[in-house]
Amino acid sequence: MSASEPADRGPDGDGLRGRVVLVTGSGCGLGAWIARAAVRRQARVVINCRRDGRQRSGGEALVCRADVTAFGEAQGLVEEALKAFGRIDVLVNTVGVFGWKPVAELDPAEWRAMMASNLDSVYHMSRLVIPHMRKNHFGRIVNFGAVGAERTVAHPKASAYSAAKAAVVAFSKALALEEARCGITVNVVSPGVLVDGEESAHAVDHSADRIPVGRRGSPDDVVRAVLFFCSPAADFLTGQVVAVAGGWRL
Ligand SMILES: NC(=O)c1ccc[n+]([C@@H]2O[C@H](COP(=O)([O-])OP(=O)(O)OC[C@H]3O[C@@H](n4cnc5c(N)ncnc54)[C@H](OP(=O)(O)O)[C@@H]3O)[C@@H](O)[C@H]2O)c1
Repeated sequence: MSASEPADRGPDGDGLRGRVVLVTGSGCGLGAWIARAAVRRQARVVINCRRDGRQRSGGEALVCRADVTAFGEAQGLVEEALKAFGRIDVLVNTVGVFGWKPVAELDPAEWRAMMASNLDSVYHMSRLVIPHMRKNHFGRIVNFGAVGAERTVAHPKASAYSAAKAAVVAFSKALALEEARCGITVNVVSPGVLVDGEESAHAVDHSADRIPVGRRGSPDDVVRAVLFFCSPAADFLTGQVVAVAGGWRL
């Protein structure tokens, strides 16, 4: 543990108490679940979304409006977080839109938007936050894939999304290697089929019996995986991909 690291760990061992946790795309969906879990663990949380007025802050939380697909806006978000809390310990990149369309109907703007949301956003935030994490010799970065992304599993009508998520895995592994000596871990959580905990563009009607464990995942299942990667128990894990999918698409 470095001298500048908060010593006070959460009673449950998550190690988030006092940490500064920035969650992109946390106005609603999985990001909001993660942000709320971090607030409950007494982390200082930066909640991010594109539009104003979607999310109230509570506990030690700051709400920052920024479109992280634009480097300049991502820069503003990081500056605001540093101004408020002085450091960033944990970066959770949840931004990543989804959409069904065959390649033959996908126009260049739609392709670019999918790449910008799922991939560019992860690069922008990592590029901006890592120099600050390096100063503290501590950082936890959790990126979002999708089940099968590490094996480039094909999803018809989701070519851009599948390509972007596979690239997020490759990016995360390369970054994990680059930052391994700097106290920064980089891991990926890949959700499978989830219950519609909050409105989500990902909502797909998969019956639970197609999932080996016999149920769809909950946002809490995903939150627990993210918290694990941020916890002291995962200090030696980096460049890893965990599918939170109940055995689906093994
Ligand atoms: N949910 C699933 O079933 C599922 C399955 C597999 C993988 N995933 C992955 O898990 C992650 C979270 O998924 P989700 O379904 O919870 O997402 P979601 O519901 O679509 O997330 C919406 C949130 O992201 C914000 N957002 C979107 N684009 C943004 C941008 N460019 N800059 C800043 N904020 C932005 C939205 O803000 P505004 O409302 O202000 O626009 C909103 O707060 C994604 O990476 C997704 O690909 C999800």
